[in-house]
Amino acid sequence: MEKTFLMVKPDGVQRGLIGEIVKRFEQKGFQLIGSKLTMVSREQAAFHYAEHEGKDFYERLVNFITSGPVFAMVWQGDQVIPLSRTLIGKTNSLEAAPGTIRGDYAVHTNFNLIHGSDSPESAEREIGNFFKADELHDYTKVIQQWI
Ligand code: GTP
Ligand code: MG
Repeated sequence: MEKTFLMVKPDGVQRGLIGEIVKRFEQKGFQLIGSKLTMVSREQAAFHYAEHEGKDFYERLVNFITSGPVFAMVWQGDQVIPLSRTLIGKTNSLEAAPGTIRGDYAVHTNFNLIHGSDSPESAEREIGNFFKADELHDYTKVIQQWI
């Protein structure tokens, strides 16, 4: 089944939004198969945001993501990668629609609460950057046939 890497960023943890964010993915019907509260090392951050290296916001982005604990998660489900991005909302806080996580809670593009993988290749890379295979738990949910 399709898997994605989602991460409540340091601002989301500080603002007490872990539960609210987890709730939205649970209620959508996705399955949580791994999670941890952890600090992101600078090496992990550089690997995670390699595509942005050299851009003007890169240093700020790495400083931010390493500034406090994050809540890292792996979720699975049909089309979980694109559907998670829809639930998360647009990157630019001025464009994030109400009803999305960023639209409802994020004020600044630099503090936009949550990360979600943007492709199957990114998901695989990002999951491997944060989780070992034995930290992920594939289990059967009987309700899955309905969603
Ligand atoms: P992530 O889930 O964090 O990867 O966000 P995203 O996939 O919606 O956006 P993207 O990967 O393009 O950028 C990563 C992060 O860099 C964003 O979440 C923003 O915080 C920041 N960022 C991206 N583009 C810009 C930009 O044009 N200006 C600024 N200031 N920050 C940006
Ligand atoms: Mg991204």
